[in-house]
Amino acid sequence: MFPAIRMNTNESHSHKTSTPCVMVIFGASGHLARRKLIPALYALERRGLLEEHFSIVGFARTPNVTARFRKEMADAVSEASSSGRLDAALWQRFSSRLHYVTGEYDQVESCRRLHEFLAGADCGCARGRILYYMALPPRAVEPTLRTLYDSRCIPWHKGASAPRLMIEKPFGWDAASACRLNRLLARMLPESQIYRIDHYLAKDTVRNLLVLRFANAIFEPLWNCAHVDSVQLTAAEDVGVEGRGAYYDEAGVVRDYVQNHVLQVLALAAMERPESADAQALSDRKLEFFESIAPVRRGDFVFGQYRGYTREPHVAARSRTPTFLALRLRVNNRRWKGVPFYVRAGKRLPRKVTEITIQFKTAPTCVFDGRALCGHAPNALSIRIQPAEGMRLSFSTKAPGLDDELRRANLDFRYSQLGAELPEAYEKVLLDGIRGHPGLFWQADELSRATGFGLECTRFWTGCEI
Ligand SMILES: NC(=O)c1ccc[n+]([C@@H]2O[C@H](COP(=O)([O-])OP(=O)(O)OC[C@H]3O[C@@H](n4cnc5c(N)ncnc54)[C@H](OP(=O)(O)O)[C@@H]3O)[C@@H](O)[C@H]2O)c1
Repeated sequence: MFPAIRMNTNESHSHKTSTPCVMVIFGASGHLARRKLIPALYALERRGLLEEHFSIVGFARTPNVTARFRKEMADAVSEASSSGRLDAALWQRFSSRLHYVTGEYDQVESCRRLHEFLAGADCGCARGRILYYMALPPRAVEPTLRTLYDSRCIPWHKGASAPRLMIEKPFGWDAASACRLNRLLARMLPESQIYRIDHYLAKDTVRNLLVLRFANAIFEPLWNCAHVDSVQLTAAEDVGVEGRGAYYDEAGVVRDYVQNHVLQVLALAAMERPESADAQALSDRKLEFFESIAPVRRGDFVFGQYRGYTREPHVAARSRTPTFLALRLRVNNRRWKGVPFYVRAGKRLPRKVTEITIQFKTAPTCVFDGRALCGHAPNALSIRIQPAEGMRLSFSTKAPGLDDELRRANLDFRYSQLGAELPEAYEKVLLDGIRGHPGLFWQADELSRATGFGLECTRFWTGCEI
């Protein structure tokens, strides 16, 4: 019934290795680099996806030297691996790619030193594309970019070796700073070379929402207000802020989770069908969905804060930052008219789970006698994004026996049944950045809309009972 969507952005290139380049990680002394980026780059090495001439240069203020940085990263990769061990030969090859330069983010002199190093023989990648990765807290990104821009160190040429920039979420810390950042970026680089990261979009299970909806004929005809009663997204973490109190106390659940991961997952689950899976087509559809979200009202929210939050390091003793939110959204378009979207998101909840459920309406007519048998259990399709990734379709069935009784039953699918391990989202993020595939990143106009939505939500949290 539907013409096929071209899943061309990544799959057609999936067997190519990456473009030769050097990746500069600003904030290389931090949590993200240690926990996610370096382990993911090591995993790409193991898969044979890094070019021979590919170097990684960590840059940060914390004084360090390359030898010690390599040792620290060896520990980080071991910690991140399930076996806790490193393959000696593989590590040897990978660690020779790692370098470290100490410097200040807002000093032109440091920037020049960094670029002298990149151009030198020690870096081993003098003529490759430079990929800048901002693994920095949001407030440190703008001064770093301004210094890069002002220092005129960046080779601002176009074509095959034009520089590329990857920026972590959250993008800015409020609507004004996000706007300022976008304006600065527009002066620095073409939009096609800017990758605003949301690692959630790189999860196989999130990407699978597109496959589920548009590569199967049976779901899409039911995916609308005629058949769906509600859409429910739960994004629960069982851990607290885990040492990131300073960042989290400013961001809260809205900026940390809702205005980025939650909106993106909802958009992929509910947007109209794109013409193709390329970056622009996806972004246009997602934007259309964001724009159809009706303005939120006070009664649409419940905010909460986990017990003990204000005793976390670097969290203000009287902080009122919410760590939990329940939210009802309405979507003003033909497909979703009258269907509520319920979101629950937060930290330190009883169990870790991210799941989107399409709750269908009860069957419109019933052939059985007795009310108890009719509308007994409306169908629900739950798509588990993490952990125990998979899908479950619930339906009514006749209970075994001589009486007419109904039971709820499930059809279950687990990704693990397919036999291969799901890659870490950061492997995909980094590989797409290295190869130049922009399909799974935020575009500027999507981000402005999402930041506006976050702002609307945070207005309600100020002065709200927690
Ligand atoms: N950690 C995660 O799991 C995770 C997951 C998703 C997204 N992110 C995002 O990734 C970015 C980095 O996260 P992170 O956890 O690595 O942060 P982080 O550890 O707090 O900071 C990274 C590095 O930035 C430098 N830095 C910290 N505060 C600074 C400041 N006020 N001014 C200038 N530099 C400062 C520090 O390096 P030096 O002092 O050595 O310069 C620090 O090691 C953030 O935007 C975060 O939201 C993180």
